[in-house]
Amino acid sequence: MTRRTLLVYNPSAEEAEAYAKLIRLPRRGLTVHVASTPEGAAPVLADTEILYTWGFPPALLARMPRLRWIQAMGAGVERLLVPDLPAGVIVTRAAGIFGPWMAEYTLGWCLWVTQRMELLREQQRQARWKNVDPGRLRGATLCVIGLGDIGRSIARRARAFGMTVVGVARSPRKVREAHVYRSGDLRRALAKADYVVLTVPLTPATHGLIGARELAAMKPSAWLINVARGPIVDETALLEALRAERIGGAILDVFDEEPLPPEHPLWQRDNVVITPHISGPSTPDEIAPIFHDNLRRYLAGRPLRHVVDQRRGY
Ligand code: OXD
Repeated sequence: MTRRTLLVYNPSAEEAEAYAKLIRLPRRGLTVHVASTPEGAAPVLADTEILYTWGFPPALLARMPRLRWIQAMGAGVERLLVPDLPAGVIVTRAAGIFGPWMAEYTLGWCLWVTQRMELLREQQRQARWKNVDPGRLRGATLCVIGLGDIGRSIARRARAFGMTVVGVARSPRKVREAHVYRSGDLRRALAKADYVVLTVPLTPATHGLIGARELAAMKPSAWLINVARGPIVDETALLEALRAERIGGAILDVFDEEPLPPEHPLWQRDNVVITPHISGPSTPDEIAPIFHDNLRRYLAGRPLRHVVDQRRGY
């Protein structure tokens, strides 16, 4: 008899164990296997029916003929939507939990700009009492590119600070949180902003969305915040805009290549903040309820939640 296998995969062995530990299995004869390397996963690839993962090596998907469902431990699923993904496999993503994290990240760094935190700490180190005028978020404009649950969550919190929020959405619709521009009007929306935050998924349509022309449309004082994916911004164009001080600066949590190589010129720029892809952390405690809800549905043959439209890529 074939074993029905649930593979829990995360490149961190500790994380993989933590996710696996929280699994509450109904008595349906599923075997749980935990792995953090391709070698560790190899013995069960052929039997795996359910994959619960972050950082799964896409090349392994071609070796999984029984795979029926992938639950991603994160929001972005572009690395799973590859030609090797067997036809008919349902992909679900984690949704509804990253917005509050990313809102704190976004507004925290906006406040870092307005409250001149770096300068004030530097003055403190030098025991220097010197007036520094703060800026303020109240009255400033935030442009949120992508009005999914993450973008709207950021928008709501920005409004609580008294910011004006404009948004750009692929399918324009009225939302309470922002004045919405359609994607064709991206540059008009960018021109209004003091801060621009990217929250769109990486798809063929968003690859290179922010290039030289979009950066040129921004105010010279505006800051770009990328919590989405590196390739959404044309990195060469961004470096050029930063070098020429055509924008105020950039807060970057994601990059074309991660980890960002030590020799990368972005590290050297004063008008750039680099963080190591931490703006929306996946935690086993927050992801487990999403997985359990879907696992129950899957085993009962009911529709899953947060199913990715594989044609659109999110
Ligand atoms: C995600 C991420 O997609 O952390 O969840 O990047």
